Amino acid sequence: MTNDTTFRHWHWSLDRDEIFHLTLDRADSPQNSLSQAVLLELEEVICLLQELRPQAVVLRSGKPKSFIVGADVSEFSNFTEPAKVLPQILKAQEIFFRLEHLPMPVIAVIDGPCLGGGLELALACRYRIAVDDRATNLGFPEVQLGIHPGFGGTVRSIRQIGTLPALQMMLTGRSSNARQAKQVGLVDEAVPRRVLENAVTTFLQNPPPRKLLPWSVRLGNLAPLRPLLAWILRRKVTARANQKHYPAPYALLDLWRHYAHDSEQMYLEEARSVASLICSSTAQNLVRVFFLQSQLKSHREETALVQRVHVIGAGSMGRDIASWCALQGLQVTLQDLDDKVLAEAIAAADKLFCKKLKKNNLIRAAHDRLMADPQGLGVARADLVIEAIVEKVELKKQLFTSIEPQLRGDAILASNTSSIPLEELAKVLQNPQRFLGIHFFNPVSKMPLVEIVRAEQSAQEPLARATAFVQRIKRLPLPVKSSPGFLVNRILMPYLLAAVELVEEGNKVEDIDRAALDFGMPMGPLELADKVGIDICLSVAEVFADYFQRPVPPILTRMITAGKLGLKSGQGFYAYRKGKKVVRKKRHHGAAQDLLLGRLLDPLLQEAEACLAEGIVESADQVDAGMIFGTGFAPFTGGPLHYKYQAATD
Ligand code: NAI
Repeated sequence: MTNDTTFRHWHWSLDRDEIFHLTLDRADSPQNSLSQAVLLELEEVICLLQELRPQAVVLRSGKPKSFIVGADVSEFSNFTEPAKVLPQILKAQEIFFRLEHLPMPVIAVIDGPCLGGGLELALACRYRIAVDDRATNLGFPEVQLGIHPGFGGTVRSIRQIGTLPALQMMLTGRSSNARQAKQVGLVDEAVPRRVLENAVTTFLQNPPPRKLLPWSVRLGNLAPLRPLLAWILRRKVTARANQKHYPAPYALLDLWRHYAHDSEQMYLEEARSVASLICSSTAQNLVRVFFLQSQLKSHREETALVQRVHVIGAGSMGRDIASWCALQGLQVTLQDLDDKVLAEAIAAADKLFCKKLKKNNLIRAAHDRLMADPQGLGVARADLVIEAIVEKVELKKQLFTSIEPQLRGDAILASNTSSIPLEELAKVLQNPQRFLGIHFFNPVSKMPLVEIVRAEQSAQEPLARATAFVQRIKRLPLPVKSSPGFLVNRILMPYLLAAVELVEEGNKVEDIDRAALDFGMPMGPLELADKVGIDICLSVAEVFADYFQRPVPPILTRMITAGKLGLKSGQGFYAYRKGKKVVRKKRHHGAAQDLLLGRLLDPLLQEAEACLAEGIVESADQVDAGMIFGTGFAPFTGGPLHYKYQAATD
């Protein structure tokens, strides 16, 4: 018996053994997310199940290798008043409650991402079988959107896997693969795809009894222990997120601490808490960040793929770029003048591969893809050559002159330069159409943004291929026009220089950095200057001084003369011991934090507007995306221009 016409998003059939096969295949989207419409249809499906009374239900996704990616985030922007949102959340909770209390067993078959609301739905099913595949991951990423689970997930996850593992999962937003999920008890089975149907049949024929968590795991929920555990977890959260800017993890801890003994009340309070969080400016701005990221991911052009990459320069950037490309499955050759540097680069790559891949065979395969190439034999075979040698115009020009004749006709030539105008470098090229900038940020493995820099003569096809290449290596490509500092460094530099000027005026280094940290920056500007290197800051400041008539603060030259180059020399604005900042005694901050912040932010915001006006990127959204994904600019603000426009309307 089948009926595929009753519902738009859910499809079902009843087989001879009275097993109800239910498939979610959201009609208007390539992925399954839980919109209001999908949830309301699920309610109708549940009514049908209560009528038909099948032996069991098997719930799957109709999307290949993707279960349910979460609630429908695009609906979040309609949420402005908690009182109006609350009934919708309570409705979703009621639907999941009815699913959980169906008289027949419901088995969720999880193949691919099962996240947020998707995991909450799976937890409302009696059993979960996950496909052991790279695509399968289970987790609650809600905190990254400024909320916590709201469809009963806080109660059910704690019940299912115990207090600490569940809270940690929700507080960090980290996801688990199928095997890890099986280990903690989030799923009942993790099986290879080829035996999936057998596993489902076994569950249908012999539904296993429900397992109770061992007493030691349930202990954390006991009332006398909760305040202590909540205090410990809160301290951990405080180290990562400021409550003023990111209230969700704190709200989750309060919810658990006060209501964990009474699940009925906890469901209600969970809904209230999410209704209030979701309407906050933090959540609304983080949703904006989510969409900015999706926009950068979505540039798609039909173009020949880059398979072989040759990187020249194995210094701090070149080695990171090469090892990241090999990690992502590309064939890479890495060239440097200095054999010792090359050997260090391969050792650094090993660290990255071990950290990310863990299994020996995968690590070996990644090493096989990365080859040290002191003679530059890879140049002639590469689809893409990335130059990352020292920031010296003449040296880069010499290199281009010598390698251009060896390049394949269809190869792309890219520079990772941060400050040299591409048009200057292109002067020595016979074929400047294939030349462009691919500007990575440091460290490559942590900074998702990559600027794709369009020089005057760059042709469209290489730009499209470079964009596809950046997506292929799981970074976010941002198209920018060639201009000093491109987008991100140009906006960041006035902020760094403002911080240096404040030191020159006699303000304390810690006070200046604290003002930025309190605002929500990931690092203070002076600590960042130390990390980048005071010598590099000075040379960029000099380039900028020429273009933007911005004076270079004399303190930079004085510091260099005194050998204070920042982190690499052990002394800069801060002192460093074994690569770690020496923390000075805490002092009370002066009353001028707001003034300091204004002095830091104003030049940054002005420069952001200037970049938009000059068409360095196409939209204000791209300015914001660049600063958030290239520098970690306080994400809860939605980006510098969004922050500026919001502040103007408040
Ligand atoms: P680095 O000084 O750490 O490394 C440069 C490497 O290039 C050295 O190992 C050197 O031996 C090698 N080299 C010099 N001439 C060469 C040649 N003709 N052939 C082969 N190898 C040669 O420099 P870093 O920091 O890695 O910067 C490289 C490029 O990346 C520069 O253009 C810089 O502006 C840019 N960049 C740097 C960032 C950073 O945070 N360090 C961030 C983004 C871009």
